[in-house]
Amino acid sequence: MNLENSASPDNYSHIASFVESLEGWMTPAQGARLFGAARTCPSPGRIVEIGSFRGKSTVVLASAARPGVEIFAIDPHAGNDRGPEEWDGFADQASEDHECFLANLAGGGVADRVRHLRAFSDAAHADVPDPINVLYVDGAHSFGPARADLRDWGSRVAPGGTMLIHDSFSSVGVTLAILRELLPGRRWRYVARSGSLTEYRADLANSPVARLRNAGIQAAQLPYFVKNLVIKVLLSGSMSRRLLERVSQAAGRPTPPWPY
Ligand SMILES: C[S@@+](CC[C@H](N)C(=O)[O-])C[C@H]1O[C@@H](n2cnc3c(N)ncnc32)[C@H](O)[C@@H]1O
Repeated sequence: MNLENSASPDNYSHIASFVESLEGWMTPAQGARLFGAARTCPSPGRIVEIGSFRGKSTVVLASAARPGVEIFAIDPHAGNDRGPEEWDGFADQASEDHECFLANLAGGGVADRVRHLRAFSDAAHADVPDPINVLYVDGAHSFGPARADLRDWGSRVAPGGTMLIHDSFSSVGVTLAILRELLPGRRWRYVARSGSLTEYRADLANSPVARLRNAGIQAAQLPYFVKNLVIKVLLSGSMSRRLLERVSQAAGRPTPPWPY
């Protein structure tokens, strides 16, 4: 490994071990993708994150951002839609999330780079100026609010800008929102994904062939979605989980983790 490169601020690996020590649902490959997207944000420019939890992804975005790039992190820390199967009623944990978020930003040396908006994303529009260059969506996961994030915040991303979506082709609500808003759309080009973290660019060519191809690539992610759903269903029940453990063991494989 080229140590000089890996220690460079251009490279995710210079913060990877700190980020991996933080609680959250982001794989190292997803961290590297987020880092790369934030690093290419033009300066002056603007990065917006929806759904920060304890700051794991926020630290990545802020560490990658060049001087002159503003970073907004939107999270109400209200105890709803907190994580996998944690839809509502986590107010106590959420106030702890807020404290951890502040401590983790300080620990990552990025507290002064990030402006936290403690609000639901639909109530935060007026606090963020246009244009947005990089948008990371990892807030509400049910269809209505997820769709509103992709549509209303996505429309504020500058031409050529980037939108990254966590739990795409994994969460039912987020996937339906993508199928409704992005798959048939004229704006967002599917670039690639790392696990459930999908990257889109606002530069889809204005031709039927390009649109058809773009829809086809997204439709091709549906088998991955079905696989994730089956794993989630099996992991959710105690008997089905035991069955999955036994089958995995018989196949000489580890039991699949909760997909994200
Ligand atoms: C899965 S966590 C985000 C994880 C985070 N990106 C990370 O890497 O650790 C989802 C977060 O979204 C927040 N959230 C839920 N509904 C939201 C909304 N409507 N707007 C903004 N954030 C929301 C929750 O408070 C929670 O902290």
